[in-house]
Amino acid sequence: MIMMLKLLALLSLFSIASAAPLATCPGYRVTNVQSGDSYLVADLTLAGTSCNLYSEDITNLRLTVEYQTDTRLHVLIEDREQNVFQIQDSILPRPPSQNSSSQTAALRFTYEANPFSFKVTRASTGDVLFDTSPSPLIFETQYLRLRTRLPPNPNLYGLGEHSDSFRLPTSGYKRTLWNSEAPYIPQNQNLYGSHPVYFEHRGGTGTHGVFLRSAAGMDIVIGKSDAGEQYLEYNTIGGVVDLYFLAGPGPEEVSKQYAEVVGLPAMMPYWSLGFHQCKYGWPDLGHVKQVVKNYSDAGIPLEALWDDIDYMDNKLDFSTDPVRYPKDQLKGFVEELHGKDMRYVQILDPGIRYKSDYGPFKRGAEKNVFLKAADGSWYRGLQWPGEVVWPDWIAPQTKEWWTTEILTFYDPNNGIDVDGLWIDMNEASNMCADTTCLSSAQETRSLPQSQTVISPRAPGDGQHLGLPNRDLFTPQYQIANHYPTLSSRTLFTNITNSDGSTQYDTHNLYALTMSSVSRSALLSRSPTKRPFLLTRSTFSGSSRFAAHWFGDNFSSWVDYRASIRQLLSFSAVHNYPMVGSDVCGFNGQAQEKMCARWAILGAWQPFYRNHADISAPDQEFYRWSSVAAAARKAIATRYRLLDYIYTGLYFASKTGESLVKPLWFLYPEDAATFAIDTQFLLGDSLLVSPVVEDDVQSVSFYLPQGVWYDFFTHSRISDQTSASAGAGGQTITVTGVDWDQIPVYIRGGSILPLRLSDASSDSGQEQAMTTKEVHQRNFEIIIAPDQNGKAKGRLYLDDGESLDSSGRESEIEFRWDGARLEARGKFGYDTKGVVVVRVVVLDDGVNGNGERKVEGEWGLMGGFTVSF
Ligand code: GLC
Repeated sequence: MIMMLKLLALLSLFSIASAAPLATCPGYRVTNVQSGDSYLVADLTLAGTSCNLYSEDITNLRLTVEYQTDTRLHVLIEDREQNVFQIQDSILPRPPSQNSSSQTAALRFTYEANPFSFKVTRASTGDVLFDTSPSPLIFETQYLRLRTRLPPNPNLYGLGEHSDSFRLPTSGYKRTLWNSEAPYIPQNQNLYGSHPVYFEHRGGTGTHGVFLRSAAGMDIVIGKSDAGEQYLEYNTIGGVVDLYFLAGPGPEEVSKQYAEVVGLPAMMPYWSLGFHQCKYGWPDLGHVKQVVKNYSDAGIPLEALWDDIDYMDNKLDFSTDPVRYPKDQLKGFVEELHGKDMRYVQILDPGIRYKSDYGPFKRGAEKNVFLKAADGSWYRGLQWPGEVVWPDWIAPQTKEWWTTEILTFYDPNNGIDVDGLWIDMNEASNMCADTTCLSSAQETRSLPQSQTVISPRAPGDGQHLGLPNRDLFTPQYQIANHYPTLSSRTLFTNITNSDGSTQYDTHNLYALTMSSVSRSALLSRSPTKRPFLLTRSTFSGSSRFAAHWFGDNFSSWVDYRASIRQLLSFSAVHNYPMVGSDVCGFNGQAQEKMCARWAILGAWQPFYRNHADISAPDQEFYRWSSVAAAARKAIATRYRLLDYIYTGLYFASKTGESLVKPLWFLYPEDAATFAIDTQFLLGDSLLVSPVVEDDVQSVSFYLPQGVWYDFFTHSRISDQTSASAGAGGQTITVTGVDWDQIPVYIRGGSILPLRLSDASSDSGQEQAMTTKEVHQRNFEIIIAPDQNGKAKGRLYLDDGESLDSSGRESEIEFRWDGARLEARGKFGYDTKGVVVVRVVVLDDGVNGNGERKVEGEWGLMGGFTVSF
């Protein structure tokens, strides 16, 4: 039997070695084990002759296992000298351990001593969640391999950023993580961000999460060995094995446990939930003003106008084009927007023009904030303004410099009074293809790519800053980066950061550090207000600082569908609630029908912005009457729900729960939901099932078992007898979905607080044109009872912008027992006269009463009861 297992292990090793030399590696042997109730530490020593598969085996490792909480297990395998790079704690703080007892913890760690392998087991069921025995650990100076056995056809999610199916393929699938500029967002390719976390869902037996705290470039392979055994395998070009196992057992619990490890998402300002318009290529300020006017004339609420790099003088950060966007006029325009309670956001890129008389460069150079090439000169490359240098966001002085530039240019009195910033191209993107740079840039780029570059650090200083003597350009194991080399179209990987680490190890953290420094600059500018920041590139934990959009998609139905998958991955798995795609698509020409559908779909994603490329025709919603009509209706609906979404964001930022979620989060035992990625839940109460086929007016979608109500008509759907029923649910086909419609269902058991902001909602009120107006509108409460006639809901209220609302916020819980609505909770927010004016109980199907309604006036500054 043992022989057979060994043979299987060997076979499986060979099967993943398609790109690797056929070699067996000895693995490690465990010695010097010390353990206590909440930990285990041991030495791992190479168990035989080095195999040096892609670099040199590291002989001496150290294993540390901590039962950090009852639901979180930490397994760290590092080099004993502690030189191999580990993400700096200042960049991604580690969660404190609560030293839980291994006796009570939900997860168990067990190991085999020779060769070393380990298992993580769910204590309550004995279910093996992670099992590295199929192949020996390989831990080399520039290559690390760890394989875990998985059950057949596992339900795996995450490992973004990607545009692939939400439930990941399970055979022959490779996810490459190396933050990369991507001119569009094809499937099966590394994109802008890296999130080495997956959730595995095992139906009734639970969901767990696995986070590899590693910024290394990597391929994560999900496949089946020749023996047919399912596995997931990490292949990294650096870093250590630094795994956090999250026990769940519910999916939402895994989300919260993951947020404990990488940090809670930043709470966003209320206004940022409004509708945003942007376009690359607007010719001048006159045009921009016309866009604002056109929106107003069309009666489509525009909350925020965004300027892309067009506003800049020769694409230089912190400048305005003197002719097309004169500073005084731009300043005046922003004041006008503010006068109408609208907002203004500008883009900034990290590439700083290399030019001696350019202020930001001069001041940055004086403070020594830019990254240097191996020869000691500023590392230069190409970005929008031409030849540029890039800030070293790790250096403390960079924060001072960037903050000062932001405070000066965006001085609310003398500068452009932006409401938020958009940081882009921060993978970092370098337009300099490998050998075709400007001649001056080439001086610093003249190192042959194959040359082994010795990093300046001495070995053995134990600071996790990266091993010396590595080939930082062309490690032998080549991850499947979509550009030819690691350094292609980005910063050279041999660049040393101010703390001694190298871009080879920190590449994936570039945007995270830029986001952190930019958020802190915005906080210096307005210390009491919540900053709004949008970033293109991300890493695990980036949501602490910035919102994210999915980059340069296409105006296509393909990418319309991809946006739903991306929404699910980011919000539910990557701990990233404030996300969305460029609505109507960025590249290419938006078609009317598709844009109408996307205008509606976008209104259900947390971040809602229409944006297009310079080469794309204008695609503002008012350009087609059908799209304008769709957008008006969609925004009206969104604005009624704004506090529902805001409440969801608040709880996401407070507890780490997800805002947008897949059906299986709420129906974990219904296998029919596991693969669904064309529908999503916004919060716990609303199921959005958009039309997903090109140019059609029908959609088939899944309604899990229970009571559902059409959000728009309030009609009740509880017939579970459909022939196409899955595990308790039913597949519904809706036809005649007009170009301004989207099927949305309220989940029975929900209570929704809605603002009266739309004439069509029977409120008798005009459409609110800004979120400020929305915030002043009264509420109606919709009660959608479940099969037992009960329901609950919640509402968070604050002033929408204070960084710290403590003592001035309300967290209200609503409960419906079949006859009475009760509002209870914490009431700290002064609603300034905003009240609940109507309570509607949808047809509970029990009393034959149909829909019931009471009108009245119930204040929101204390609890109340409404009886029916
Ligand atoms: C990048 C961004 C895009 C922006 C363009 C110009 O391609 O992804 O959104 O419009 O740069 O700044």
